[in-house]
Amino acid sequence: MMGPEPRSEITSLPLYLPGATRGTGGDPVIKLSSNECALGPSPAALRAYGAHADTLVRYPETGCDALRGALAERHGLEAARLVCGNGSDQIVHVLTALYAGHGDEVVFSEYGFLRFKLSAIACGATPVSAKEIRHTTSVDALLAAVTERTKVVLLANPNNPTGSYVPKAELERLCTALPPTVLLVIDSAYAEFAERDDYSDGADLVHRSENVVMTRTFSKAYGLAGLRLGWAYGPEYVVETFNRARLPFPVSSAAQAAGVAALQDEAHLRAVVSHNARALAWVADRTNDLGMPALPSVTNFNTCRVGASGTGQARTVLDFLTRRNILVRPLEPYGLDDYLRITVGLDKENEKLVDGLAEFVESAMSDSLGASDPNRCAS
Ligand SMILES: Cc1ncc(COP(=O)(O)O)c(C=O)c1O
Repeated sequence: MMGPEPRSEITSLPLYLPGATRGTGGDPVIKLSSNECALGPSPAALRAYGAHADTLVRYPETGCDALRGALAERHGLEAARLVCGNGSDQIVHVLTALYAGHGDEVVFSEYGFLRFKLSAIACGATPVSAKEIRHTTSVDALLAAVTERTKVVLLANPNNPTGSYVPKAELERLCTALPPTVLLVIDSAYAEFAERDDYSDGADLVHRSENVVMTRTFSKAYGLAGLRLGWAYGPEYVVETFNRARLPFPVSSAAQAAGVAALQDEAHLRAVVSHNARALAWVADRTNDLGMPALPSVTNFNTCRVGASGTGQARTVLDFLTRRNILVRPLEPYGLDDYLRITVGLDKENEKLVDGLAEFVESAMSDSLGASDPNRCAS
């Protein structure tokens, strides 16, 4: 066909496949496929969102001043170093595009969030992945992957889909050893769930260095994934570059208002985090008992090894659950074809998930017994 040709790297860019939204057993579904928030958003955020209906004729405020003010106050940050965007994915993508292009390299870890690789390719840069150790980012491997062509290092901490995190001391070591010309983006989308003494979201590193940006989101613990609201904290000159390059109205006025209200509802956030901690461990214990061990996770999902690699077992389990309208995430695009990622849901959803997995294990066992039973009739 004759027509406009996109840049060649775009033609070969794999599509990002989001979590499934439909089961094969009719409605309703139990959606544990996108790391959304089990308890949903704060009622105050929903009210603030609704209250914006009569101002939709107006453009939103371009700088998200009230929201940046609320974020600065809530997290003890400087408002001038904050930017808000249409989800943190968008912010990470824009940052990558601003600092890396043709001939440059973007480094991330082996099982790092898939968007990193896709953003690197879309920007024309070469994606470089660094081996992990036991499904955890290795700072040594990241540093070894850095060359004079590296412009950006993208690190999700905690990481999706492995659920693991790099402790604060290791993060500091990475930051100290990186050349100052390399931008380190720390994507802390799951920070609220990572209640560990040795965890840091990276804000302290932003204060100490000139080449670190931290990104955060309202999509996970705040339950506002549908609003598309993310933010970043970085050096002022990076924020200034970002603001010059970004589109003028990245965040709707309703999203800005909902974000402010969500930040003020600290009780709701506490309820979300405490439900998650309890239910995350509950599901992991049950899947471990079923012989589907979960990787250690400090997020709102368990990544469980449900069969051997190369056997298609994870797909079989996923299809089995999908027929029961329980949606989980396959991890083949990460090369983790033996794992499924399972978001924490409400208690009754988690129970149904575990019942589904138990049913699968039972039917697989009776199938294999039947197969080895010489008296079994062939049918
Ligand atoms: C590590 C990580 N970063 C970013 C995002 C996306 O965040 P947002 O909804 O703010 O674009 C996700 C969502 O799954 C994620 O897992």
